[in-house]
Amino acid sequence: MLTGKKILLGITGSIAAYKIPLLVRLLKKEGAYVRVVMTPSAKDFVTPLTLSTLTSSPVLSHGFDEHTGSWNSHVELGLWADLFVIAPASANTLAKMTYGIADNYLLTVFLSAKCPVMFAPAMDLDMYKHPATQHNIKTLIERGCIFVAPSSGELASGLCGEGRMEEPQKIYEKIKSYFQKKLRYSGKKVLITAGPTYEAIDPVRFIGNHSSGLMGIEIARAFADQGADVTLVLGPSNISPERKNINLLPVTSAKEMYDSVMAFFPKTDIAILSAAVADFKPETVAEQKIKKNPDNDTFTLKLVKTDDILKNIGDRKKDNQVVVGFALETENGLTNAKKKLHTKNIDMIVLNQMNESGVGFKTKTNRVSIITKDDVVTDYDLKPKNEVALDVLDSIYQYINSKI
Ligand code: CTP
Repeated sequence: MLTGKKILLGITGSIAAYKIPLLVRLLKKEGAYVRVVMTPSAKDFVTPLTLSTLTSSPVLSHGFDEHTGSWNSHVELGLWADLFVIAPASANTLAKMTYGIADNYLLTVFLSAKCPVMFAPAMDLDMYKHPATQHNIKTLIERGCIFVAPSSGELASGLCGEGRMEEPQKIYEKIKSYFQKKLRYSGKKVLITAGPTYEAIDPVRFIGNHSSGLMGIEIARAFADQGADVTLVLGPSNISPERKNINLLPVTSAKEMYDSVMAFFPKTDIAILSAAVADFKPETVAEQKIKKNPDNDTFTLKLVKTDDILKNIGDRKKDNQVVVGFALETENGLTNAKKKLHTKNIDMIVLNQMNESGVGFKTKTNRVSIITKDDVVTDYDLKPKNEVALDVLDSIYQYINSKI
Protein backbone atom coordinates (compact mmCIF):
# COMPACT_ATOMS: atom_id res chain seq x y z
CA MET A 1 0.00 0.00 0.00
CA LEU A 2 2.76 2.47 0.86
CA THR A 3 5.21 1.32 -1.79
CA GLY A 4 7.03 4.33 -3.21
CA LYS A 5 5.16 6.84 -1.03
CA LYS A 6 7.42 9.62 0.25
CA ILE A 7 6.78 10.37 3.88
CA LEU A 8 8.53 13.15 5.74
CA LEU A 9 8.53 12.75 9.52
CA GLY A 10 8.91 15.85 11.67
CA ILE A 11 9.91 15.20 15.27
CA THR A 12 9.59 17.85 17.96
CA GLY A 13 10.72 18.01 21.59
CA SER A 14 8.53 15.65 23.56
CA ILE A 15 9.23 12.46 25.44
CA ALA A 16 6.98 10.63 22.94
CA ALA A 17 9.77 11.13 20.37
CA TYR A 18 11.34 7.89 21.65
CA LYS A 19 8.47 5.97 20.02
CA ILE A 20 9.08 7.33 16.50
CA PRO A 21 11.73 4.74 15.46
CA LEU A 22 8.93 2.18 15.67
CA LEU A 23 6.79 4.26 13.30
CA VAL A 24 9.74 4.52 10.90
CA ARG A 25 10.11 0.73 10.89
CA LEU A 26 6.41 0.17 10.20
CA LEU A 27 6.46 2.63 7.27
CA LYS A 28 9.69 1.23 5.81
CA LYS A 29 8.33 -2.34 6.04
CA GLU A 30 5.38 -1.25 3.86
CA GLY A 31 7.74 0.12 1.19
CA ALA A 32 7.58 3.87 1.98
CA TYR A 33 10.54 6.21 1.58
CA VAL A 34 11.01 7.97 4.91
CA ARG A 35 13.02 11.09 5.68
CA VAL A 36 13.26 12.83 9.03
CA VAL A 37 13.50 16.45 10.16
CA MET A 38 13.91 17.23 13.86
CA THR A 39 13.76 20.32 16.00
CA PRO A 40 16.93 20.87 18.08
CA SER A 41 15.11 19.89 21.29
CA ALA A 42 13.81 16.64 19.77
CA LYS A 43 17.42 15.40 19.83
CA ASP A 44 17.25 15.30 23.62
CA PHE A 45 14.65 12.54 23.36
CA VAL A 46 15.79 10.38 20.42
CA THR A 47 19.11 10.37 18.60
CA PRO A 48 19.50 11.42 14.97
CA LEU A 49 21.83 8.43 14.55
CA THR A 50 19.01 5.97 15.34
CA LEU A 51 16.74 7.67 12.82
CA SER A 52 19.30 8.05 10.05
CA THR A 53 20.21 4.37 10.45
CA LEU A 54 16.56 3.30 10.22
CA THR A 55 15.75 5.57 7.26
CA SER A 56 19.13 5.17 5.49
CA SER A 57 19.05 8.96 4.97
CA PRO A 58 20.60 11.92 6.75
CA VAL A 59 18.42 13.47 9.43
CA LEU A 60 18.05 17.22 9.00
CA SER A 61 17.58 19.85 11.64
CA HIS A 62 19.44 22.86 10.21
CA GLY A 63 19.36 24.67 6.90
CA PHE A 64 23.15 24.83 6.87
CA ASP A 65 25.13 21.58 7.04
CA GLU A 66 28.40 22.35 8.86
CA HIS A 67 30.07 19.08 7.78
CA THR A 68 29.58 19.52 4.04
CA GLY A 69 29.28 23.29 4.03
CA SER A 70 26.09 22.93 1.95
CA TRP A 71 22.57 24.30 2.23
CA ASN A 72 19.66 21.92 2.92
CA SER A 73 16.74 23.37 0.99
CA HIS A 74 13.54 23.33 3.06
CA VAL A 75 11.59 24.05 -0.12
CA GLU A 76 12.91 20.94 -1.86
CA LEU A 77 12.08 18.72 1.11
CA GLY A 78 8.57 20.14 1.26
CA LEU A 79 8.12 19.43 -2.45
CA TRP A 80 9.62 15.93 -2.17
CA ALA A 81 7.09 14.65 0.38
CA ASP A 82 3.69 13.12 -0.42
CA LEU A 83 2.79 13.56 3.25
CA PHE A 84 4.44 15.45 6.12
CA VAL A 85 3.73 13.81 9.49
CA ILE A 86 4.64 15.88 12.56
CA ALA A 87 4.77 13.47 15.49
CA PRO A 88 5.09 14.14 18.31
CA ALA A 89 3.83 17.71 17.82
CA SER A 90 4.57 19.75 20.97
CA ALA A 91 2.34 22.62 22.14
CA ASN A 92 5.16 25.02 21.22
CA THR A 93 5.44 23.73 17.64
CA LEU A 94 1.64 23.72 17.18
CA ALA A 95 1.53 27.39 18.22
CA LYS A 96 4.31 28.29 15.78
CA MET A 97 2.66 26.32 12.98
CA THR A 98 -0.55 28.26 13.61
CA TYR A 99 1.09 31.67 13.56
CA GLY A 100 3.68 31.04 10.84
CA ILE A 101 6.75 31.38 13.06
CA ALA A 102 9.73 29.81 11.32
CA ASP A 103 12.52 29.81 13.89
CA ASN A 104 13.77 26.29 13.20
CA TYR A 105 14.32 24.09 10.18
CA LEU A 106 11.24 21.89 10.75
CA LEU A 107 9.01 24.96 10.76
CA THR A 108 10.51 26.35 7.55
CA VAL A 109 9.74 23.00 5.91
CA PHE A 110 6.18 23.16 7.28
CA LEU A 111 5.62 26.65 5.89
CA SER A 112 6.85 25.73 2.43
CA ALA A 113 5.36 22.21 2.21
CA LYS A 114 2.98 21.67 -0.71
CA CYS A 115 1.77 18.28 0.54
CA PRO A 116 -0.87 17.61 3.23
CA VAL A 117 0.33 17.76 6.82
CA MET A 118 -0.70 15.31 9.55
CA PHE A 119 0.05 16.10 13.18
CA ALA A 120 -0.07 14.01 16.35
CA PRO A 121 0.09 16.21 19.47
CA ALA A 122 1.88 15.09 22.63
CA MET A 123 1.89 17.11 25.82
CA ASP A 124 0.75 17.25 29.39
CA LEU A 125 -3.02 17.25 29.95
CA ASP A 126 -3.27 20.87 31.13
CA MET A 127 -1.22 22.12 28.20
CA TYR A 128 -3.46 20.13 25.88
CA LYS A 129 -6.65 21.48 27.45
CA HIS A 130 -5.42 25.09 27.45
CA PRO A 131 -7.64 27.30 25.24
CA ALA A 132 -4.54 28.49 23.34
CA THR A 133 -3.60 24.93 22.35
CA GLN A 134 -7.20 24.02 21.54
CA HIS A 135 -7.49 27.14 19.38
CA ASN A 136 -4.27 26.26 17.52
CA ILE A 137 -5.38 22.68 16.86
CA LYS A 138 -8.78 23.87 15.62
CA THR A 139 -7.17 26.45 13.32
CA LEU A 140 -4.77 23.89 11.84
CA ILE A 141 -7.66 21.48 11.19
CA GLU A 142 -9.67 24.25 9.54
CA ARG A 143 -6.71 24.90 7.26
CA GLY A 144 -6.79 21.26 6.15
CA CYS A 145 -4.16 19.63 8.40
CA ILE A 146 -5.00 16.07 9.41
CA PHE A 147 -5.31 15.65 13.16
CA VAL A 148 -4.32 12.45 14.98
CA ALA A 149 -6.03 12.97 18.33
CA PRO A 150 -3.94 12.14 21.41
CA SER A 151 -5.12 9.29 23.58
CA SER A 152 -5.87 9.34 27.28
CA GLY A 153 -3.61 7.62 29.75
CA GLU A 154 -0.60 7.89 31.99
CA LEU A 155 1.60 10.86 31.06
CA ALA A 156 5.33 11.36 31.59
CA SER A 157 4.52 13.93 34.29
CA GLY A 158 2.87 11.22 36.36
CA LEU A 159 -0.56 12.74 35.72
CA CYS A 160 -3.24 10.82 33.94
CA GLY A 161 -5.41 12.26 31.14
CA GLU A 162 -5.60 13.37 27.53
CA GLY A 163 -2.37 14.42 25.81
CA ARG A 164 -0.51 11.19 25.20
CA MET A 165 0.68 10.89 21.60
CA GLU A 166 -1.30 8.22 19.79
CA GLU A 167 0.63 4.93 19.54
CA PRO A 168 2.91 4.51 16.46
CA GLN A 169 0.74 1.62 15.21
CA LYS A 170 -2.34 3.90 15.19
CA ILE A 171 -0.46 6.74 13.46
CA TYR A 172 0.76 4.25 10.89
CA GLU A 173 -2.85 3.08 10.28
CA LYS A 174 -3.98 6.68 9.88
CA ILE A 175 -1.21 7.25 7.31
CA LYS A 176 -2.28 4.11 5.42
CA SER A 177 -5.92 5.13 5.45
CA TYR A 178 -4.94 8.61 4.18
CA PHE A 179 -3.27 7.05 1.13
CA GLN A 180 -6.11 4.55 0.61
CA LYS A 181 -8.67 7.38 0.61
CA LYS A 182 -6.44 9.60 -1.46
CA LEU A 183 -6.72 7.17 -4.31
CA ARG A 184 -10.24 5.91 -4.05
CA TYR A 185 -11.86 8.44 -6.41
CA SER A 186 -9.01 8.54 -8.92
CA GLY A 187 -10.30 8.45 -12.48
CA LYS A 188 -13.79 9.60 -11.41
CA LYS A 189 -15.22 12.75 -12.98
CA VAL A 190 -17.06 14.71 -10.31
CA LEU A 191 -19.29 17.75 -10.88
CA ILE A 192 -20.18 20.00 -7.91
CA THR A 193 -22.34 23.10 -7.62
CA ALA A 194 -21.87 25.46 -4.67
CA GLY A 195 -22.68 28.95 -3.46
CA PRO A 196 -25.64 31.22 -4.07
CA THR A 197 -26.97 32.51 -7.37
CA TYR A 198 -27.73 36.16 -8.05
CA GLU A 199 -30.74 37.01 -10.21
CA ALA A 200 -30.48 40.49 -11.68
CA ILE A 201 -33.31 42.99 -11.18
CA ASP A 202 -31.53 45.85 -12.93
CA PRO A 203 -27.83 46.71 -13.53
CA VAL A 204 -27.22 47.38 -9.80
CA ARG A 205 -29.61 45.08 -7.90
CA PHE A 206 -30.19 41.37 -7.60
CA ILE A 207 -32.07 38.69 -5.66
CA GLY A 208 -29.62 36.46 -3.78
CA ASN A 209 -29.19 34.50 -0.56
CA HIS A 210 -26.70 34.11 2.29
CA SER A 211 -24.93 30.94 1.07
CA SER A 212 -21.14 31.24 1.45
CA GLY A 213 -20.45 28.19 -0.75
CA LEU A 214 -18.20 26.65 1.94
CA MET A 215 -19.99 23.27 2.18
CA GLY A 216 -19.75 22.57 -1.56
CA ILE A 217 -16.20 23.92 -1.71
CA GLU A 218 -15.16 21.52 1.09
CA ILE A 219 -16.73 18.66 -0.88
CA ALA A 220 -14.82 19.74 -4.00
CA ARG A 221 -11.55 19.92 -2.00
CA ALA A 222 -12.14 16.47 -0.49
CA PHE A 223 -12.82 14.89 -3.89
CA ALA A 224 -9.73 16.56 -5.37
CA ASP A 225 -7.65 15.28 -2.43
CA GLN A 226 -9.00 11.77 -3.02
CA GLY A 227 -7.88 11.73 -6.65
CA ALA A 228 -11.05 12.79 -8.51
CA ASP A 229 -11.15 14.98 -11.58
CA VAL A 230 -13.30 17.81 -10.14
CA THR A 231 -15.34 20.54 -11.85
CA LEU A 232 -16.78 23.10 -9.45
CA VAL A 233 -19.56 25.37 -10.72
CA LEU A 234 -19.45 28.13 -8.15
CA GLY A 235 -21.93 30.97 -7.66
CA PRO A 236 -20.69 34.32 -6.24
CA SER A 237 -18.49 33.41 -3.25
CA ASN A 238 -15.53 34.97 -1.43
CA ILE A 239 -13.95 31.60 -0.73
CA SER A 240 -11.28 30.16 -3.00
CA PRO A 241 -11.18 26.36 -3.49
CA GLU A 242 -7.37 26.55 -2.90
CA ARG A 243 -6.64 23.44 -4.95
CA LYS A 244 -4.87 23.68 -8.27
CA ASN A 245 -6.50 20.47 -9.48
CA ILE A 246 -10.08 21.80 -9.34
CA ASN A 247 -11.59 23.03 -12.61
CA LEU A 248 -13.37 26.16 -11.36
CA LEU A 249 -16.29 27.58 -13.37
CA PRO A 250 -17.53 30.79 -11.74
CA VAL A 251 -21.16 31.66 -12.54
CA THR A 252 -23.61 34.30 -11.35
CA SER A 253 -27.19 33.35 -12.18
CA ALA A 254 -29.25 30.15 -11.99
CA LYS A 255 -29.36 30.10 -15.81
CA GLU A 256 -25.54 30.23 -16.06
CA MET A 257 -25.28 27.48 -13.45
CA TYR A 258 -27.84 25.40 -15.37
CA ASP A 259 -25.93 25.80 -18.64
CA SER A 260 -22.57 24.83 -17.10
CA VAL A 261 -24.05 21.78 -15.34
CA MET A 262 -25.84 20.61 -18.49
CA ALA A 263 -22.64 20.94 -20.52
CA PHE A 264 -20.60 18.85 -18.06
CA PHE A 265 -23.16 16.33 -16.81
CA PRO A 266 -22.97 13.85 -19.74
CA LYS A 267 -19.23 13.29 -18.94
CA THR A 268 -19.81 13.10 -15.18
CA ASP A 269 -19.67 10.00 -12.94
CA ILE A 270 -20.80 11.71 -9.73
CA ALA A 271 -22.73 15.01 -9.42
CA ILE A 272 -23.25 16.75 -6.07
CA LEU A 273 -25.52 19.76 -6.25
CA SER A 274 -25.10 21.73 -3.05
CA ALA A 275 -25.73 25.24 -4.45
CA ALA A 276 -28.47 27.42 -3.01
CA VAL A 277 -30.04 28.14 -6.38
CA ALA A 278 -32.69 30.87 -6.63
CA ASP A 279 -36.07 29.26 -7.29
CA PHE A 280 -37.40 32.45 -8.89
CA LYS A 281 -35.94 35.29 -10.94
CA PRO A 282 -37.39 38.60 -12.17
CA GLU A 283 -39.44 38.08 -15.32
CA THR A 284 -37.55 40.91 -17.00
CA VAL A 285 -34.28 42.62 -16.15
CA ALA A 286 -34.50 46.41 -16.43
CA GLU A 287 -31.84 47.81 -18.73
CA GLN A 288 -31.37 50.91 -16.59
CA LYS A 289 -31.47 51.38 -12.82
CA ILE A 290 -35.10 51.34 -11.64
CA LYS A 291 -35.96 54.74 -10.17
CA LYS A 292 -38.24 55.36 -7.19
CA ASN A 293 -41.66 56.63 -8.19
CA PRO A 294 -42.47 59.48 -5.71
CA ASP A 295 -46.21 58.74 -6.04
CA ASN A 296 -45.96 55.04 -5.12
CA ASP A 297 -45.22 53.56 -1.69
CA THR A 298 -45.10 50.01 -3.03
CA PHE A 299 -43.24 48.34 -5.81
CA THR A 300 -44.19 45.01 -7.38
CA LEU A 301 -41.70 42.72 -9.05
CA LYS A 302 -42.99 39.81 -11.09
CA LEU A 303 -40.93 36.65 -10.63
CA VAL A 304 -40.82 33.52 -12.76
CA LYS A 305 -39.48 30.07 -11.87
CA THR A 306 -35.89 29.13 -12.67
CA ASP A 307 -35.10 25.68 -14.05
CA ASP A 308 -34.57 23.06 -11.36
CA ILE A 309 -31.04 21.92 -12.22
CA LEU A 310 -31.10 18.92 -9.88
CA LYS A 311 -34.41 17.59 -11.22
CA ASN A 312 -33.20 18.00 -14.80
CA ILE A 313 -30.08 15.93 -14.27
CA GLY A 314 -31.97 13.44 -12.03
CA ASP A 315 -34.35 12.79 -14.94
CA ARG A 316 -31.48 12.42 -17.45
CA LYS A 317 -29.11 10.35 -15.33
CA LYS A 318 -27.86 6.98 -16.58
CA ASP A 319 -27.46 3.88 -14.38
CA ASN A 320 -23.72 4.41 -14.00
CA GLN A 321 -24.12 8.03 -12.83
CA VAL A 322 -24.67 9.00 -9.21
CA VAL A 323 -26.53 12.21 -8.37
CA VAL A 324 -26.57 13.72 -4.88
CA GLY A 325 -28.68 16.70 -3.83
CA PHE A 326 -28.92 18.90 -0.76
CA ALA A 327 -32.06 19.88 1.11
CA LEU A 328 -32.14 22.96 3.27
CA GLU A 329 -35.17 22.87 5.52
CA THR A 330 -36.55 24.93 8.38
CA GLU A 331 -39.37 22.52 9.27
CA ASN A 332 -40.38 18.87 8.64
CA GLY A 333 -36.80 18.23 7.50
CA LEU A 334 -36.89 14.48 7.01
CA THR A 335 -40.26 14.39 5.26
CA ASN A 336 -39.33 17.24 2.90
CA ALA A 337 -35.88 15.82 2.15
CA LYS A 338 -37.31 12.38 1.32
CA LYS A 339 -39.87 14.02 -0.95
CA LYS A 340 -37.11 15.89 -2.83
CA LEU A 341 -35.03 12.69 -3.07
CA HIS A 342 -37.85 10.85 -4.85
CA THR A 343 -39.44 13.63 -6.93
CA LYS A 344 -36.03 14.73 -8.26
CA ASN A 345 -35.13 11.09 -9.03
CA ILE A 346 -31.71 11.21 -7.36
CA ASP A 347 -29.57 8.68 -5.47
CA MET A 348 -28.92 10.48 -2.22
CA ILE A 349 -29.83 13.67 -0.39
CA VAL A 350 -27.96 15.55 2.34
CA LEU A 351 -30.34 17.26 4.76
CA ASN A 352 -29.38 20.37 6.76
CA GLN A 353 -31.93 21.75 9.17
CA MET A 354 -31.52 25.51 9.49
CA ASN A 355 -33.27 25.79 12.85
CA GLU A 356 -30.35 24.91 15.14
CA SER A 357 -27.19 26.82 16.00
CA GLY A 358 -23.99 25.90 14.17
CA VAL A 359 -25.94 24.78 11.10
CA GLY A 360 -26.59 26.64 7.87
CA PHE A 361 -25.23 29.27 5.51
CA LYS A 362 -22.76 31.39 7.44
CA THR A 363 -21.36 28.80 9.84
CA LYS A 364 -18.13 26.82 9.59
CA THR A 365 -19.88 23.77 11.03
CA ASN A 366 -22.82 21.71 9.92
CA ARG A 367 -24.97 18.82 11.12
CA VAL A 368 -26.42 16.67 8.40
CA SER A 369 -28.45 13.54 7.83
CA ILE A 370 -27.75 11.58 4.67
CA ILE A 371 -30.65 9.69 3.09
CA THR A 372 -30.21 7.17 0.30
CA LYS A 373 -32.69 6.22 -2.43
CA ASP A 374 -33.89 3.25 -0.36
CA ASP A 375 -34.79 5.68 2.50
CA VAL A 376 -31.94 4.64 4.80
CA VAL A 377 -31.18 7.64 7.04
CA THR A 378 -27.80 8.23 8.72
CA ASP A 379 -27.56 11.07 11.23
CA TYR A 380 -24.21 12.77 11.88
CA ASP A 381 -22.98 14.97 14.73
CA LEU A 382 -22.31 18.70 14.45
CA LYS A 383 -18.79 19.04 13.00
CA PRO A 384 -16.58 21.33 10.85
CA LYS A 385 -17.72 21.42 7.23
CA ASN A 386 -14.47 19.81 6.01
CA GLU A 387 -15.31 16.76 8.15
CA VAL A 388 -18.93 16.76 6.96
CA ALA A 389 -17.51 16.68 3.42
CA LEU A 390 -15.56 13.52 4.28
CA ASP A 391 -18.78 11.91 5.60
CA VAL A 392 -20.50 12.76 2.31
CA LEU A 393 -17.63 11.19 0.35
CA ASP A 394 -17.71 8.07 2.55
CA SER A 395 -21.47 7.70 2.00
CA ILE A 396 -21.15 8.05 -1.77
CA TYR A 397 -18.33 5.50 -1.79
CA GLN A 398 -20.41 3.00 0.20
CA TYR A 399 -23.42 3.64 -2.04
CA ILE A 400 -21.43 3.02 -5.23
CA ASN A 401 -19.95 -0.19 -3.82
CA SER A 402 -23.34 -1.43 -2.63
CA LYS A 403 -24.61 -1.18 -6.25
CA ILE A 404 -21.83 -3.37 -7.69
N1 CTP B 1 -31.72 22.98 -6.85
C1 CTP B 1 -31.33 23.12 -8.17
N2 CTP B 1 -31.94 24.03 -8.97
C2 CTP B 1 -32.89 24.85 -8.49
C3 CTP B 1 -33.30 24.72 -7.14
C4 CTP B 1 -32.68 23.78 -6.33
O1 CTP B 1 -30.44 22.39 -8.61
N3 CTP B 1 -33.45 25.74 -9.29
C5 CTP B 1 -31.08 21.94 -6.03
C6 CTP B 1 -30.21 22.44 -4.88
O2 CTP B 1 -28.89 22.63 -5.31
C7 CTP B 1 -30.35 21.32 -3.87
C8 CTP B 1 -31.74 20.78 -4.10
O3 CTP B 1 -32.12 21.21 -5.41
O4 CTP B 1 -29.45 20.26 -4.16
C9 CTP B 1 -32.78 21.23 -3.13
O5 CTP B 1 -32.78 22.62 -3.00
P1 CTP B 1 -33.74 23.32 -1.96
O6 CTP B 1 -33.58 24.80 -2.09
O7 CTP B 1 -33.59 22.70 -0.60
O8 CTP B 1 -35.16 22.88 -2.46
P2 CTP B 1 -36.05 23.28 -3.65
O9 CTP B 1 -36.07 22.13 -4.61
O10 CTP B 1 -35.64 24.59 -4.22
O11 CTP B 1 -37.47 23.36 -2.94
P3 CTP B 1 -38.01 24.38 -1.80
O12 CTP B 1 -37.34 25.69 -2.07
O13 CTP B 1 -39.46 24.40 -2.06
O14 CTP B 1 -37.64 23.77 -0.48
